[in-house]
Amino acid sequence: MLRRIVQRTLATHAEKPRFLITGGRGQLGRGMAKELSARHGEDSVILTDISYPTGYDLDLGYTACLDVTNYKDFRTVVAENRVTQIIHLPALLSATCEANLPLAMKVNIDTANSAMLIADEFKCKLFIPSSIGAFGPGSPLEAVPDKCIQDPLTFYGCSKIYAELMMGYMSKMRNNDFRCLRYPGIISPVAEPGGGTTDYAVDIYKQIVGESQDHFECYLAPDARLPMMLEEDCVTGTCDFLEVDASKLTSRVYNLGAIDFSPQEVAAELAKQYGDFDMIYNVDPLRQGIAENWPKVFLDDGARADWGWKPKYDSTAAMTKYMIENIPKNPNAVKKEKPASDMGESLLDQLKAMSVGEREALFSKL
Ligand SMILES: NC(=O)c1ccc[n+]([C@@H]2O[C@H](COP(=O)([O-])OP(=O)(O)OC[C@H]3O[C@@H](n4cnc5c(N)ncnc54)[C@H](O)[C@@H]3O)[C@@H](O)[C@H]2O)c1
Repeated sequence: MLRRIVQRTLATHAEKPRFLITGGRGQLGRGMAKELSARHGEDSVILTDISYPTGYDLDLGYTACLDVTNYKDFRTVVAENRVTQIIHLPALLSATCEANLPLAMKVNIDTANSAMLIADEFKCKLFIPSSIGAFGPGSPLEAVPDKCIQDPLTFYGCSKIYAELMMGYMSKMRNNDFRCLRYPGIISPVAEPGGGTTDYAVDIYKQIVGESQDHFECYLAPDARLPMMLEEDCVTGTCDFLEVDASKLTSRVYNLGAIDFSPQEVAAELAKQYGDFDMIYNVDPLRQGIAENWPKVFLDDGARADWGWKPKYDSTAAMTKYMIENIPKNPNAVKKEKPASDMGESLLDQLKAMSVGEREALFSKL
């Protein structure tokens, strides 16, 4: 009892916020650490991950390794550093979850439980991101609001719904300040595409602008619309959300939207702003299938109304301009061969366009 009172007092009277970012060496953690340090001071952030720090991390003093599956270590880091807010990022993403369900259960569910129990014990605030993957075929996919049926077909989606519900429960029933944002696909000029469903939206700029290629092979259909957001918006939106006074929040879980577009719209915008190239559609049924069960448009009325959320990059044109300006350019790029399927398709198109007489004349020469 006495220990709990002391811990509460420590958290309440801490002079300034102390953020613990777990799983921080992935796509989003370092950007959040940078933004939080800029807002609250360099020593306000402890960035950790199961992986070892890189030279970049060491230069910034982010030396700590923390495997959050080890509850004792996780709790000790929070207690010893007088952490006031945990930003819990570790998760296996969609395809990886299906490939290793026991590990996915451990990382996505068990460590979220640990984060909630530790934050509850030390009365820290807690943030865990969710995803558009938390919706499914029963959701109104044409435009998903904050509250609707959520019936994902993936373990990733189920694990995100678990965290969403528990964050609400732990806030309402145990008097905690736990918050959750559902992100769309996050794109950045520097993040390496990792084989995910939304990766084409980064890879197209890398290939055409960064690698000076004259064609891009897209694994989604021309009209496969998906909601996306630039990483800069995701980071500032999250940090703004963490600062909002709890009294303004009508929910613990919000959609965070920015842009939605299809491959053909991105291709048209890139051609307009940068120059013409060939867009080749070589549809991968697996990723196309995933895309068809995800929201096309992400409604974020709650975030806009409750805490004034507004993305900086809110159109395909603005995103394209940013990506063209910020994609690293490779001066030694080598032109790639166009895929055979495209040549086959264009030959087929040419044949279709010919009259019967022209076709017969062509075949007679073969
Ligand atoms: N990036 C996106 O497009 C996106 C979209 C929606 C939601 N999210 C959510 O945002 C969060 C962060 O996403 P991200 O893109 O940075 O993920 P990421 O996969 O790039 O990074 C996750 C990090 O967690 C670390 N990790 C894994 N197991 C760990 C463990 N046991 N202990 C400590 N660290 C461990 C990994 O080493 C990795 O650095 C995730 O919860 C993800 O579901 C991301």
